[in-house]
Amino acid sequence: MKKILTIIGARPQFIKHAPLQKELKNHFNEIVVHTGQHYDNNMSEIFFKEMEIDKPKYNLNVGSSTHAEQTGKIMILFEEILMNEKPDCVIIYGDTNSTLAGALTTAKLKMRLAHIEAGMRSFNMNMPEEINRIISDRLSDYNFAPSFTAMENLENEGMEGIFTGDIMYDAFLKYSKIAKKQERLIEYDYILMTIHRESNTLEENLKRIIDNILKTQLKFVFPIHPRTRKIINKLYEIKDNKLGNIEFLQPQGYIELLNLLINSNGVLTDSGGLQKETFFAKKKCITVRNETEWVETLQNNANILCPFAECNIESIFQDSNIKFKNYYGNGNTSEIINNFLMERL
Ligand code: UD1
Repeated sequence: MKKILTIIGARPQFIKHAPLQKELKNHFNEIVVHTGQHYDNNMSEIFFKEMEIDKPKYNLNVGSSTHAEQTGKIMILFEEILMNEKPDCVIIYGDTNSTLAGALTTAKLKMRLAHIEAGMRSFNMNMPEEINRIISDRLSDYNFAPSFTAMENLENEGMEGIFTGDIMYDAFLKYSKIAKKQERLIEYDYILMTIHRESNTLEENLKRIIDNILKTQLKFVFPIHPRTRKIINKLYEIKDNKLGNIEFLQPQGYIELLNLLINSNGVLTDSGGLQKETFFAKKKCITVRNETEWVETLQNNANILCPFAECNIESIFQDSNIKFKNYYGNGNTSEIINNFLMERL
């Protein structure tokens, strides 16, 4: 049996890995390395439990630090594992520091590298994720592209993509069925919001965003990323997890988040993953950024770019006349990737 080594470390990677692992484990000897980039129970463990993901063989426990320290620590520890395990292929997901560290280490050891969610571009080099994406794509032998835009981006940079559709759609289809059967987590009408991007969590930027939300007449439910929570606690006095029209929750597991999404009146976010999930759920989205990698979601105003939440939020969420089309494959991305790897390795 060929050996595949998967490196994951941050919340969105656990979600992407869940459907693929279920395919790969029937056909490969699959070994998983968790970098420990995300380590809180609600940012890591809960996803393994809810999505029934096998426990990783290794945990590097790198935790939080500066970009270079986090990336460097992963590389040092991951190199040793790669040299011992000698996999036939390494799989990386998305655009985090765990992705970049996995890519660099694998390429330097001249081992085969496969990138899932390749070809995404914001064309904004101030985002750490953009740097991680460009380098990861450039170093990969197989670039699995979730959309035709991603295919074009790769081609424009002289690379060849393999269109697979988006693996998050596989996860959404499976787990939203479970979420739909559950009772609503929040009884009142609300907009679901999340903010965690590095630039949006600079104190002055986050203040601008939150102040704009506080001015609206809508109610917001905000499962809050630990990075954002630290800054909010500095800026505002939060009582009983409430601030004006915002109710804060702990970071949620995947099924709970889908429950919150499905039962919401729309979403305000800066997360790439949640933008797509909102699209899959046929809900309206406001994206608190200047640009998005998921440009298809912008068609027919299903998703609206609104940096610093400086737009007429109420009127955007009133307009529910949205036409949706699925640009991200058929929900069988994990099968396509598995079949490709079975043929090539
Ligand atoms: C990372 C990814 C981002 C992805 C996000 C998903 C990079 C550069 N960014 O951002 O693309 O959208 O994950 O959540 O890799 N923290 C905790 N507990 C945890 C994890 C983080 O307290 O379990 C805090 C730490 O204080 C840390 C901060 O959050 O300093 C940021 O964590 P980090 O993993 O560096 O980046 P994310 O913002 O999570």
